[in-house]
Amino acid sequence: MNKKINRTDIELANLRRQHQLILNSVGEGIYGLDVLGNVTFVNPAAASLIGWEMDDLIGKSMHAILHHSKPDGTAYPREECHIYAAFKEGTVRRVDNEVFWRKDGTSFPVEYISTPMHNEKNQLIGSVVTFRDITQRKLSESILKSANEELEQRVTERTSELSKANEQLKQLNEDRSRFVAMVCHEFRNPLNNIAFSVSSLKRYNRQLSAEEKTEYLSDVETNVERMTQMTNELLVIGKIETEGINLSSEKIDLVQFCQKLVAELKQTYPTHKVDFDTDISCLKVEVDCQLLRSIITNILTNSVRYSSADKSIQFKLDYNHSRAVFLIKDWGIGIPKSDIYHIFEPFHRGKNVSNVPGTGLGLNIVKRFVDILGGEINISSKVNRGTKVEIIVPLPTSNNFPKG
Ligand SMILES: Nc1ncnc2c1ncn2[C@@H]1O[C@H](COP(=O)(O)OP(=O)(O)OP(=O)(O)O)[C@@H](O)[C@H]1O
Ligand SMILES: [Mg+2]
Repeated sequence: MNKKINRTDIELANLRRQHQLILNSVGEGIYGLDVLGNVTFVNPAAASLIGWEMDDLIGKSMHAILHHSKPDGTAYPREECHIYAAFKEGTVRRVDNEVFWRKDGTSFPVEYISTPMHNEKNQLIGSVVTFRDITQRKLSESILKSANEELEQRVTERTSELSKANEQLKQLNEDRSRFVAMVCHEFRNPLNNIAFSVSSLKRYNRQLSAEEKTEYLSDVETNVERMTQMTNELLVIGKIETEGINLSSEKIDLVQFCQKLVAELKQTYPTHKVDFDTDISCLKVEVDCQLLRSIITNILTNSVRYSSADKSIQFKLDYNHSRAVFLIKDWGIGIPKSDIYHIFEPFHRGKNVSNVPGTGLGLNIVKRFVDILGGEINISSKVNRGTKVEIIVPLPTSNNFPKG
């Protein structure tokens, strides 16, 4: 009998040693609880993960030791605890969104499984809890989450950029088609005029007087001129749109430059008077002369074109904060209110121009050139009272200006 007991004891001791070995060797924390929630056994990994000595844990309430507070630091009532629920209800609970607290007051994210333990009569006698520190996993998850969010954000941004670019492209295509239609329409007028004059000349050659013939021919000439000018201006616009403009830079005295433009204009329009006025005696700047010449000449030509010869035109030059201000003022026919908002659109002409020749492209080109120079243009006008055009161009003064 004694021998039998001894063998059972030995077997039990062996079994206990085996269990102990298993408990000691696993990396996960393992502890057992009785029905009151007090520790019945604990493995070295569990004690080390929470910074306690194994012996100090036996018999203690594990909830009070490592599960007393929630991740945000607020109290975690025992009644809500999944570990206790497991052995009260007899179900296995697996949780990975809570923290366990160390002896030093710090905490770590944990994944635990609480499994109810039964005795041979199938009565609940407590639970076994296995847990592991999942700091690294949470860190990886959060890095992955923020990388995903960043990626999603970038995809959203890129998609919206693409759809914006698409929209712009669509708009550009529509603008192009409208422009081509406008060009065709504008060419049709002079072409019709030419066709009419030529066919009249042909059909009534004998009946027409020499004077009438000259009139038809000069009509042809005017319309050819108009088409030539339109073609040249369209070529400029086409060049700006396709190739852009390579800005060149020349050192000039802006005062002399303006005086020269006025003199040139007087030669073309000897009937009109342009008064140039400035308080500056000499202003040395670096600028693309060709663009600036085109801008000023276009505006001055408009003033001449849309004013009667008896009303002189005022041209003023100012310079402040590294910006040249050109003010051109006339007392001509002015621009109707309904036209002024469209005045920079290609082919747009005021409804009061009557028979003054023009293509309606000049201001469109001027606006493009002013933009290229980084400047601005403002137009104000009143019908029959005149027009005021202000052009502001950033122009740094030139230091090493050539003498003479
Ligand atoms: N100083 C001005 N006085 C009155 N109307 C003006 C003046 N400047 C411009 N306009 C109006 O603006 C319109 C557009 O001017 P813009 O210079 O673009 O074309 P245009 O003079 O008709 O032809 P072009 O292409 O030959 O210059 C003119 O047709 C005219 O109605
Ligand atoms: Mg013009």
